[in-house]
Amino acid sequence: AKCLQKTDAFLHRSIGTDVVIARAEATRSDESDEKNGRKSLHTLHMERQEQAERSVLISCQSSTNEKKFLKYLSKHGEINKYFFYESYGVYAVVEFANQESVTSLLEGVAIPGGSHESAVPFKSRLLSLRNLGSVDSSNQLSGRQCQPQTTIPINELIKRLSREESIDKQISSLTEAYQLTEENSRLRFLVCSLLKDIATAYFPECTIKPFGSSVNGFGKLGCDLDMLLDLDSITGRNVKLPKSGLSLEYQMKRANSERAVTQSILSVIGECVDQFGPGCVGVQKILNARCPLVRFAHQPSGFQCDLTANNRVAMKSTELLYLYGELDPRVRSLVFTVRCWARAHGVTSSIPGAWITNFSLTVMVLFFLQKRTPPIIPTLDHLRDLAGPGDKTVIEGNDCTFVSDFNKIQLQSNTETLEQLLGEFFEFYATFPFSRMSINIRKGKEQNKPEVAPLHIQNPFETSLNVSKNVNASQLDRFVALCQESAWLLQQSETSTPRGGGAGGEGAPTPWGLATLLLPSQVAGIKSRKKRRREPASERIKGLLESLKNKNQLKKS
Ligand code: GTP
Ligand code: MG
Repeated sequence: AKCLQKTDAFLHRSIGTDVVIARAEATRSDESDEKNGRKSLHTLHMERQEQAERSVLISCQSSTNEKKFLKYLSKHGEINKYFFYESYGVYAVVEFANQESVTSLLEGVAIPGGSHESAVPFKSRLLSLRNLGSVDSSNQLSGRQCQPQTTIPINELIKRLSREESIDKQISSLTEAYQLTEENSRLRFLVCSLLKDIATAYFPECTIKPFGSSVNGFGKLGCDLDMLLDLDSITGRNVKLPKSGLSLEYQMKRANSERAVTQSILSVIGECVDQFGPGCVGVQKILNARCPLVRFAHQPSGFQCDLTANNRVAMKSTELLYLYGELDPRVRSLVFTVRCWARAHGVTSSIPGAWITNFSLTVMVLFFLQKRTPPIIPTLDHLRDLAGPGDKTVIEGNDCTFVSDFNKIQLQSNTETLEQLLGEFFEFYATFPFSRMSINIRKGKEQNKPEVAPLHIQNPFETSLNVSKNVNASQLDRFVALCQESAWLLQQSETSTPRGGGAGGEGAPTPWGLATLLLPSQVAGIKSRKKRRREPASERIKGLLESLKNKNQLKKS
């Protein structure tokens, strides 16, 4: 309710002249409400899903007049919040106060038809608004009013970090620059809600929920959108068949495994998304994967989407990562920093392969934080012991139970700074006995490896599995070499103290601290260097590295 009051006030003001400032204020207050409230992921899902149901996505012309746009839409009811963004054109997300406004809006929409093309008559909440009267250039949309949906390039980040005065501040600054914004998170839930409208043609009771880094607290602007088609409200999975009365007639349509059911559901939904999904392009059905999925690009949002079904363990992992991230602010900051560092050095990649995944890397950070003295976060076994009766979850024979009430978790008072933790993280993995030991966040202790694999990280919920089974020896070696190099760099006074110059002045500031760790490595190997050469940012980074080297040589000579 507090949020709504604020956004109401924000709307009244935004019709006046101070649109941009008012919007920034509203975003900040929403964010701080969320942080202080420490909502469970379940509550967050419920709130965001409900908001998304009352929202529409509108393609605008860049000449759209904001005042007229609002006036036009307000005819259908009160608007709670709106924002603009760019993705091959300008789009607006508009959240109405009431669901009826969306119905009213859709009643009046026209379905375009041309002489050469015809449209599928499916009324989605993705709309297009044109010709709203004469153009008043003083109130047109400008880039300034658009909310960014992607991160700054790495060379920009390096410059920004170099201007900070401590490594702790660099880490906070990186987290701030990379984390999902309030607007981006709304857009993710809206895309899920738009897809749900398609899926409900087959399964009226279904929901589509985001999981993975879109909601686990570790998502970077621009990360993919992992979605789960949730049919649990229909399947009555845990309901006992009554002795008498009605049950669904399944005899004729019984598949021989749950996997086959998932594949057939995703196949028809994938087909539907491909044929009728507005803005959904490049639909691929990847049904033979370990976890069957439909992959496509949602053009209006710019999200790369992965739709899965019957993937409850992944939702549980998301919940666990979210919980750990909420327990102590250092968790998220360290994960963001390590993820960014890993991406900069090609330790992780957007292409599947023998690389360490972001998920594995996050588990490695969590394990490290459990190993501090005193530990910063508790073990998964401890979280299971704190669980109440309502938390009990068993998925396909695996115990996925852990506490959902944050207030039951007592943390120990570890006062290490982010700077200390970052250095210790690199040292920890530079010397970790990977050849013998497995990383285990359930116990918070390394265990003897149960099977041969260069990197063994126990899957927290399916404990017989290794989440980093894909990683080969040379990728692990690169990771270790980079950890050694970064640990070493942080110990050098030349790189671990601000270099001065640049701050507020002319030219690029000299990279120092965390910024130095993001520059191309000397030990990363030929393969990655080749790969980097193709990336446009590399020249700039090379230049920054050269300038650092030159300055160091000048100092020494
Ligand atoms: P991004 O790289 O930012 O997309 O991170 P992500 O956490 O979203 O990873 P990804 O899209 O690869 O996977 C989505 C979610 O699926 C993860 O957050 C996990 O919950 C789950 N997941 C991914 N890989 C594994 C795995 O190897 N094992 C298990 N158990 N879960 C996984
Ligand atoms: Mg993902």
